[in-house]
Amino acid sequence: MNRRLCLITGASAGIGAEFARQYAALGWDLALTARRTDRLEALATELEAAHGITVIPIAQDLARANSVDRILAELADRGRHADALVNNAGYGLPGTFFNTTWKDQAAFVRVLYTAPIELAHKVLPGMAERRYGRIINVASLAGYAAGSAGHTLYASVKAGLIKFSESLNAECAATGQDDIHCTALCPGFTWSEFHDVNGTREDTSKMPKWMWMQAAPVVKAGIDAVNRGQPVIVPGGANKVIASLTRILPEPVGRAMVSAQSKRYRRMDA
Ligand SMILES: NC(=O)c1ccc[n+]([C@@H]2O[C@H](COP(=O)([O-])OP(=O)(O)OC[C@H]3O[C@@H](n4cnc5c(N)ncnc54)[C@H](OP(=O)(O)O)[C@@H]3O)[C@@H](O)[C@H]2O)c1
Repeated sequence: MNRRLCLITGASAGIGAEFARQYAALGWDLALTARRTDRLEALATELEAAHGITVIPIAQDLARANSVDRILAELADRGRHADALVNNAGYGLPGTFFNTTWKDQAAFVRVLYTAPIELAHKVLPGMAERRYGRIINVASLAGYAAGSAGHTLYASVKAGLIKFSESLNAECAATGQDDIHCTALCPGFTWSEFHDVNGTREDTSKMPKWMWMQAAPVVKAGIDAVNRGQPVIVPGGANKVIASLTRILPEPVGRAMVSAQSKRYRRMDA
């Protein structure tokens, strides 16, 4: 009999690769997807050898309209299905809303919002049939806080993922699918390649150390939360305090604080 399988997007680096390591250590088979084939294959070889599991690397660019169907077709061709889905792939678009092209903005929305929702929509019927499923949407603390200049679509996309996860989790419970859970994982600053990719490494590395987390506890918090059926999880004490402040503080104060912080690591001329 096949082991349970977890499909992880953005598994070639950072938080996604850590999800692969933790699900592998729990004895799950994996389907790992991202664009960098060499990274996926190296991780697959490492995890198969370490844990005796099966890992299926699937190279796809989620910005492409048919990427979700291709990923799921590759799984189906091997007679496999996703018992868990981790929608993790993402990046921060450098530049501003003004000076980036619509092509770049549209790809951003596709990778960080449309593809996760499409994946969830397409794996759910199978989960419902088997009466088991776990969906983790990697959102961000930015989805809680006020929007800020330069990140123009990032916070709104992440806020959307948080609301979507809450609603889907509630819908599963309301329709009697008691063992299908959906969770938005909302990390704050986390060590990964994220800030190298969006060109903010130099400025973000000046942020105080207490604001940063390693990927391992972030991922563990996500897996534990989805198993509990918790719709939203903010990992780490400092991030929890920040998330609470965004709820308590008057909106203009919150906006001013986010704007002041954001200016420290986000340049408008980038
Ligand atoms: N690091 C943080 O501080 C932080 C904080 C809050 C939330 N997050 C969120 O955490 C998630 C993971 O980010 P990370 O920090 O682990 O960053 P990372 O180390 O840069 O990893 C990003 C992953 O996304 C994949 N990806 C990017 N564009 C893709 C595309 N078009 N198609 C398919 N895969 C794509 C990358 O793979 P390829 O390049 O190989 O395609 C890579 O595996 C993101 O959703 C991010 O928004 C991060």
